[in-house]
Amino acid sequence: MNPSCYDDYAKVFDLYSNVHLFPQNLRFIEVAAELLQHGDRVTDVGGGTGMFTAELLERVPWVNLTFVEPSPPMMEIAATRLPISADLVHAPLNGELLAQLPPQKLFLFQRSLYSLHGTIDPYRKLAVELAARTLEGGHVAIYEMPGPYDMELAWEYYSVNREVLGVTAEVLLETWPVMEAVFQEFNSGISEGRYTLFNRSSLDDVFGGAGFRCTYEEGTTFVYTKG
Ligand SMILES: C[S@@+](CC[C@H](N)C(=O)[O-])C[C@H]1O[C@@H](n2cnc3c(N)ncnc32)[C@H](O)[C@@H]1O
Repeated sequence: MNPSCYDDYAKVFDLYSNVHLFPQNLRFIEVAAELLQHGDRVTDVGGGTGMFTAELLERVPWVNLTFVEPSPPMMEIAATRLPISADLVHAPLNGELLAQLPPQKLFLFQRSLYSLHGTIDPYRKLAVELAARTLEGGHVAIYEMPGPYDMELAWEYYSVNREVLGVTAEVLLETWPVMEAVFQEFNSGISEGRYTLFNRSSLDDVFGGAGFRCTYEEGTTFVYTKG
């Protein structure tokens, strides 16, 4: 991953992740919330600004949350909105970090799995390490990016829906270059092999090989269950 690309992104991240324009992000949180019961441990991997983590906690305030986020500007914002009971881990997810976690009921990868590695083999290792830290019957929930961005379509969508975003034309014009750079970084990361986009088949390969089976699929939302 390229943590510096999130420095400016953090400032406009919440604006461009508007839940009215992208309801599927909130739908993912609802699917995740349904998997949890009182006292369950959940780890949000690459939680960003914590906007959707906060949505999860509104629905299931009684979970034990670990929030993993390596980007300083993202974590700075997340820290202002997550409860002090949350365990904030300011580091990339790796085997060492996982080995320190108690068994979890749920690992969340919302728009973050793609950014961890550029090839499949490290994901196979990660899936085995995740399995070792997932309770029997516990889950890994993934919201995958739908694919590379069409920059013209993206700009059109935001411009047409500017009022839903609640910003002036000036603010949109001022912030768009930041988003454009992030979208381009994502597109080049995919085409240059720095990032990995998953589909059902590659997820089955990686997580199936580590003892998980797919128990839910809707669009680019997938739940893999251990056992
Ligand atoms: C597109 S953001 C998604 C944030 C949030 N989950 C959401 O959907 O709103 C991807 C996040 O993954 C984080 N990330 C990148 N590499 C990571 C790694 N190796 N371990 C944990 N998080 C990582 C980035 O810093 C970034 O905040």
